[in-house]
Amino acid sequence: MLVTGGAGFIGANFVHHTVTRRSDFEVCVLDALTYAGDRDNLKEVAHDIRFVEGNVCDTELVDRLVADADVVIHFAAESHVDNSLRDPGPFVRSNIIGTYVVLEAVRRHGRRLHHISTDEVFGDLELDADDRFTEASAYNPSSPYSATKASSDMLVRAWVRSFEVAATLSNCANNYGPYQHPEKFVPRQVTHILQGRPPRLYGTGRNAREWTHVEDHNDAVHLILEKGRIGETYLIGSGCEVTNKAMVELILELMGEPVDRYEKVPDRPGHDLRYANDSSKLRNLLGWRPRHRHLGSGLATTIDWYRENEWWWKPRKEAAELRYSELGR
Ligand code: NAD
Ligand code: TYD
Repeated sequence: MLVTGGAGFIGANFVHHTVTRRSDFEVCVLDALTYAGDRDNLKEVAHDIRFVEGNVCDTELVDRLVADADVVIHFAAESHVDNSLRDPGPFVRSNIIGTYVVLEAVRRHGRRLHHISTDEVFGDLELDADDRFTEASAYNPSSPYSATKASSDMLVRAWVRSFEVAATLSNCANNYGPYQHPEKFVPRQVTHILQGRPPRLYGTGRNAREWTHVEDHNDAVHLILEKGRIGETYLIGSGCEVTNKAMVELILELMGEPVDRYEKVPDRPGHDLRYANDSSKLRNLLGWRPRHRHLGSGLATTIDWYRENEWWWKPRKEAAELRYSELGR
């Protein structure tokens, strides 16, 4: 199994999951080790995998690695909306060109591909509504990040239809869990509190997200790999939808702080209002059930992980906060 982006947050959790639960796979990770990727994330499984430092845009390297694999799980991407607003270039290169290079290699060698994507490709939903994205929702991305992910999904769909590439796709809601970069919402707030600083809430805090534990995302990916139909897309989401304000209050409460001890900061331009996925196709056809159905307990173990792993997040946090200070957020 070739795992692109396996040194990042979700990819590294996926590699841990695969090595510990699926001894039938030999795992090779291809990762460019950008600011978001680190071999530290794979330290515990370093002896069980092959690691190749390289870029998914490198046609020859990707061709060689794909030729050696039976299956390719494509996680590699630039993943943070705020960074895409600062500099969209790496997003266009890694997310669009990178996916094109992977697709061409998979096509040449007749390999099975699973493409990892996000619900942000559908744009946003109205606040205070109860509708949800489905696999049939129209693509309507708002940020450079989501536009490049939408492009990558469309390339995959076109390669399935035009070249009969054996690919499946999944679009997951917001993830949380261990090894998530401290630039992202949950770890940013948790590590702020661990440093005695108040969390930072964008705008009104009314924007809502559906939070899915990374282990549940990765369970779904293995299930789709095993039972998913070629050419199909599956939406993944826990059903745990909350406003950002409620999420900050929950984190503060779990960490024993007053729930109003947060700061409001200027909003993100183009900030998507609400995301929520209808994951009934995955649940009904493939039998997926999230293990972490209760946000409080999933968050509590995630908070413990950050408490115990300051060595991991501290250097990354300093660099991320420098980027935020330029944006005034
Ligand atoms: P991440 O930023 O933590 O990790 C991305 C990894 O990809 C890093 O290890 C990085 O070094 C690597 N990478 C980036 N560009 C590369 C390139 N050109 N060549 C090789 N490696 C490269 O991201 P993540 O949160 O783990 O997201 C992984 C995937 O899941 C992405 O495709 C993202 O769009 C998708 N996704 C993320 C979320 C979420 O909440 N984080 C939700 C749904 C979908
Ligand atoms: P983020 O983790 O960046 O994911 P995404 O934008 O891809 O959904 O942010 C999640 C939500 O939290 C989003 O609505 C923006 C908001 N947010 C804050 O309020 N404060 C913060 O410090 C960050 C990083 C995000």
